[in-house]
Formats: sequence, structure tokens, C-alpha cells
Amino acid sequence: MIRAIVLAAGKGKRMKSAQSKVLHEICGRPMLWYVIRALRAAGIAEILVVVNRELEAEIGRFGVASVLQVEQLGTGHAVRVALERLEPRAGGRIVVACGDMPLVTEEIFREMVGSLDARDGDAAVMSLVTVRMPLPSYFGRIIRRGPLVERIVEVSDATPEELAVTEMNAGIYAFDEAVLRDAVNHLRSNNAQSEYYLTDTVAHFVNQGKRVRPVLATNYSDVLGINDRVELAQTRREMNARLCVHYMRAGVTIVDPETTYLEPELEIGPDTVIYPNTTIARLSRIGSGCVVGPNSRLSNAKLGERVTIRESVVVDARIGDDVTVGPYAHLRGDTRLADRVHVGNFVEIKKSVLAPAVKVSHLSYLGDATIGEATNIGAGTITCNYDGQQKNATIVGRDVLIGSNTSLVAPVSVGDGALTGAGSVVTRDVASGERVAGNPARPLPKKMHET
Ligand code: UD1
Ligand code: CA
Repeated sequence: MIRAIVLAAGKGKRMKSAQSKVLHEICGRPMLWYVIRALRAAGIAEILVVVNRELEAEIGRFGVASVLQVEQLGTGHAVRVALERLEPRAGGRIVVACGDMPLVTEEIFREMVGSLDARDGDAAVMSLVTVRMPLPSYFGRIIRRGPLVERIVEVSDATPEELAVTEMNAGIYAFDEAVLRDAVNHLRSNNAQSEYYLTDTVAHFVNQGKRVRPVLATNYSDVLGINDRVELAQTRREMNARLCVHYMRAGVTIVDPETTYLEPELEIGPDTVIYPNTTIARLSRIGSGCVVGPNSRLSNAKLGERVTIRESVVVDARIGDDVTVGPYAHLRGDTRLADRVHVGNFVEIKKSVLAPAVKVSHLSYLGDATIGEATNIGAGTITCNYDGQQKNATIVGRDVLIGSNTSLVAPVSVGDGALTGAGSVVTRDVASGERVAGNPARPLPKKMHET
């Protein structure tokens, strides 16, 4: 079985951050997450990440093994530290990658898996991904000898002629484990950065008459590492473009991918249309035939079929089929809307459950409320759910008419088929079929009943 070492102990100084570089997020996931995902997708399940102290505290959530590199003495030293942790395996192979290249693809790692096998009669002890890219570049330069690699020169050690080379070392390698173990013990740090370079293993092998095989990647954007926040933003743009392509190919219409912000692991059904300036995050699930946006944010939102969300914010909410929300609504705190609910403009709903066909059309706040089927909540209705000490519940039955500007002073309940007049301040429970009005709300006199 092939194993992977992911290098992620570098200081990442140019990020100017208290946080470890590979934990900085791109499209809702730390950059390291993407590298691990690509390795696993290529069938490489055993992954050891070389970490520094800051990353050590956070690595648990990635579900991979890790080893601490106390001092960052270079990529060659990092691999040596990793190999000391890994149980030696006869005939083993090791893929080495960096944790700061989230655009790396599963295909690149797949290629590395078989890249040491004999071709034209000869096996290689090392293979590496190379890439052509425009100058200037800070990548190590590939110095070739025919179809094989002779050595790699780092920019700080290169001559002007070597700097003119446009074939670069991507920083992704496969090694025969036994020869790698031997080579990392022979590395020297007599270079411009006084570091142990993993890249020096190439010349070491070539001097021993062993083969190092280049694998040319087609697209250099796949292997770009992130060093600062400018590159972080550029990489995010590329990642988001890829995510949009993925969902569009699955049948989603995205009107403007450049202003639609998506994440991995979303579910979006076919024939859903996403309008501009919209963010969909945190494992949101959207059915088919929905309309989302413009100017909306969905986070951990689960939508059924044919739901329309216009210019609204939906966080931690579950919504049934044929629901319309917005413009300018805010749903949050584990709110649940059943089928055919309508939530209109300037409505906030927190931690509430609305039964089928409830309407809350204008300017309302519902918090900690349960509303029965087909009930109509009039404009400006508010649940007064907070008494200064705790949150209290409001329970409204089915087929209720809550008049405009009603204040429901919780804890309070309103029975099925009841009615509150405009401006009611409801401080006591209202029985089924009862009609109340006023401040505080009282049962309406009989003759008003009949009008
Ligand atoms: C390295 C390569 C260079 C290649 C480039 C591609 C070397 C000497 N050079 O250069 O040829 O073109 O990657 O991106 O390998 N790291 C550790 N511990 C250390 C030092 C580094 O874990 O002691 C990790 C870093 O976190 C990073 C990776 O190794 O993820 C690469 O290190 P970095 O210093 O960025 O190498 P480059 O100078 O970019
Ligand atoms: Ca460096």
C-alpha cells in the first residue's frame, strides 16, 4: 500500500497570521482539507501530516496521523522526521505533497501512484511532478538530462542560466521507501537557505545511477502553493470557479459564477437557479426547481423542492416544498417551515416551527413559536418571547387570524380558529374560536363578533 507524507510544518511567515497557514480557509474548508481529500480520492488512505506546534493542536479534526517537526530545518528534514514515525515496509512507496496547494487534483496523485513502475524496461526510484510556468517564478528549476531529471536547483541557489529554465518542480513526489530512507540521511544543508532540501535527493539518486522520472502536469494552476493572502484570494477564486462548474454540470443554473460563492459537499438539485451575490455554505441541501438569490446567504439550510428564497438570509433552517421566503427575510436558530409556507418582507423567524400553508407576510418577528396549519400572521406581529430573564414559548393553533400589530406576550397560547384584533396585546391564553382585541386583549363584545 502506498502511503503519503504531507508537509505542513512551515512557518508560513508571509501570511502574517497567528493561525497556521494550512488552516486558512478557501471556500469554507481549510486548504489542508483539499489536499487530504485529493489523496484519499486517489486511493491513498494512509496519510501522515508533518505539523508545527500551532497545527498540532488542530490536526485532530482531519482524521489523519501527524508528527511534530519541532524545528523547521527544511523539506528534507521534515520528510526524515516523518519517516522516523512510519513503520518501515518492504517494497513500500511514499508520496510526498505539500499542505498548502489546495487546487491539487486527484488525477495528479493517481499518476504518482503508478509512476515508479517500470516503463521501457526500467523502474524509477523517484518520480516528481513538473510543470511549465511563466517567469518569474519562485519554484525550483528542473535541470534535465534527456527524458530524466538530473537535479533540482532552488531559486536562491540558481545561476542566471538556471533561472531561465521554465520547467518547475511542483513539490509532489513519489519515492521508493527504502531508497528515500537512505537518501534523507545523506542530505546536507550547505546551501543559500541553510536548509535540508528534499529536492537534493534527486542529484543523490542520479549520482548512484538510479532513475528519477518527471511527470509533466498539464495545468500549472493545479500545483500553485499559497504563500500570502493575495495568493489565498486568487486560489479561492479558482476553487470557486471549479465548484460552480461542478454544480452547473449537475444541472444547476448559476447566473453569475463570479458572484456566487459555493463550497464542497453541498447538494443542489437540477433546475435550481442561483442568482448573483449569493453564498451557499455549511452542508446546505437544496432540492430541485428552487430559486435562490439574488443577494442571499444560506448556511446549513435544507430546502425541499420548488422553494424560492429572494434577498434573504437562511441559517440553520429546514424548509419543505413550495415555500417562498423574502425579499429581506431572516430565518435562523433551527427554524422549520413546512410545505407551502409564505414568509414575506422584513420578517425574522428564530427557533420556530410553522405548519403547512402558514403566512407571515410583512414586518414580523417570531421567536420560540409554534404556528398551526393555514394560520395567517398579520403585518407587524411580534412574539414578545424574552421577559428579561428567559425565552418563553408562543403556541398558535390552526386557522388562526392574528391581526396586524399583535404583540403575543409569551408564554402564551392562541387556540384553533381564534382571532386577535389589530393592535392586540395578548397577555393571556386565547381559547379556540375566541376573538380578542385591545391592550391587554379581552374577548370582543358579542355585537362586534357578528360584524
Ligand atoms: C519547495 C521546493 C521547490 C518547489 C516548491 C513548490 C524544496 C527545497 N524546494 O520550495 O523546489 O518548487 O516547494 O511549492 O523542497 N515544510 C515543512 N518543514 C520544513 C520546511 C517546509 O513541513 O522544515 C513544508 C512547508 O510547510 C510547505 C512545504 O514544506 O508546505 C514546502 O516548503 P517551502 O519552504 O514552502 O518550500 P519552497 O521554498 O516553496
Ligand atoms: Ca522555503
